[in-house]
Amino acid sequence: MGFLSDALSRIKPSATIVITQKARDLKAQGRDVISLSVGEPDFDTPENIKEAAIAAIRRGETKYPPVSGIVPLREAIARKFKRENGLDYKPSQTIVSTGGKQVIYNALLATLNPGDEVIIPTPYWVSYPEMVGLCGGKPVFVDTTMEHSFKLQPGPLERAITPRTKWIILNSPSNPTGAAYSRAEMKAITDVLMRHPHVWVLTDDMYEHLTYGDFEFVTPAQVEPNLYDRTLTMNGVSKAYAMTGWRIGYAAGPEHLIKAMDFVQGQQTSGAATISQWAAVEALDGPQDHLPRFKKAFEERRDLVVSMLNQSKYLKCPMPEGAFYVYPSCAEAIGKTAPSGKVLKTDEDFVSELLDTEGVAAVHGSAFGLGPNFRISYATSNAALEDACNRIQRFCGSLR
Ligand SMILES: Cc1ncc(COP(=O)(O)O)c(C=O)c1O
Repeated sequence: MGFLSDALSRIKPSATIVITQKARDLKAQGRDVISLSVGEPDFDTPENIKEAAIAAIRRGETKYPPVSGIVPLREAIARKFKRENGLDYKPSQTIVSTGGKQVIYNALLATLNPGDEVIIPTPYWVSYPEMVGLCGGKPVFVDTTMEHSFKLQPGPLERAITPRTKWIILNSPSNPTGAAYSRAEMKAITDVLMRHPHVWVLTDDMYEHLTYGDFEFVTPAQVEPNLYDRTLTMNGVSKAYAMTGWRIGYAAGPEHLIKAMDFVQGQQTSGAATISQWAAVEALDGPQDHLPRFKKAFEERRDLVVSMLNQSKYLKCPMPEGAFYVYPSCAEAIGKTAPSGKVLKTDEDFVSELLDTEGVAAVHGSAFGLGPNFRISYATSNAALEDACNRIQRFCGSLR
């Protein structure tokens, strides 16, 4: 009898974490490495949020929280959904977890039976298929294409739905592509879902606030109110408030689902850290004036990176609407020979040679289920991005 569980064999390590670690190791050896692989803002948590946490500690708010979250935060979440998304939720329809990641995990653990199918458009955030697998479900991938800006199309979605489909996971703006659905594009998807009343919608709106230009963010239950009773709308403070380390995510949905998630969470973590929850109350209720600053910086960086990558030999980079990622195609570089003499057979070879030759860490598209592409996170300084893009241009120029 083996010591480790069979469940472990169903999951892969996160490619983003593996590459970030490889870049760190190279740096520790003295190599000049620019890491474009991490998925977190390079900004600091706004001061008012930090002060709210310090005040909570001073008030003695340091005990176990209620499992689903402290009441002031659940009320703030209900207000957020009303104010920003036009969605009516009672605080009892909300739940707070240790990061958005745990919200999704709890929802899947609370609902999946062996063999239940979960539709995941590709390319996807690396954790979705792994979480589905760990919970005994079966990920069903539906490919998107660069021609459709990596957005799910109604036809392929409809063909992927079976009587075993329990959920579809939508993520707009997307990690890894930055693509975000317009109202019309989202309506085309929700129209399909209206024809299949057994399918639930798990929408990961983590990057809601990071959209650029005049793009208007929408979430499925807002576009199609008839989906309200079978939608879990997930969000969090990690990205928009530069709070990745505070570990607060939240969701709202039908009360019976929230209760089931509370049940799971009660035997897992007993709830998210109380101090972080008080900080999140300030994030949601307090001034939002850091947001235009974050958005302006990200938009400038997106424009810089897209323009420089499109000037590179062999690369094609679409202009995404949001998040802080771009997902260029390196299809034309496949088959070419790198300066080391290695022939690039896959996008993984491309990013590996790029890291070894020029010290730029990016993540290969096949890790997100669709390639040959690679993901660049532009959540780093303009100077570092310009340097990195020059190196990428030089690397592509050196391919034979
Ligand atoms: C699409 C997406 N969803 C969820 C998460 C997880 O967020 P959290 O850090 O709050 O767990 C991430 C983080 O990278 C993400 O990119």
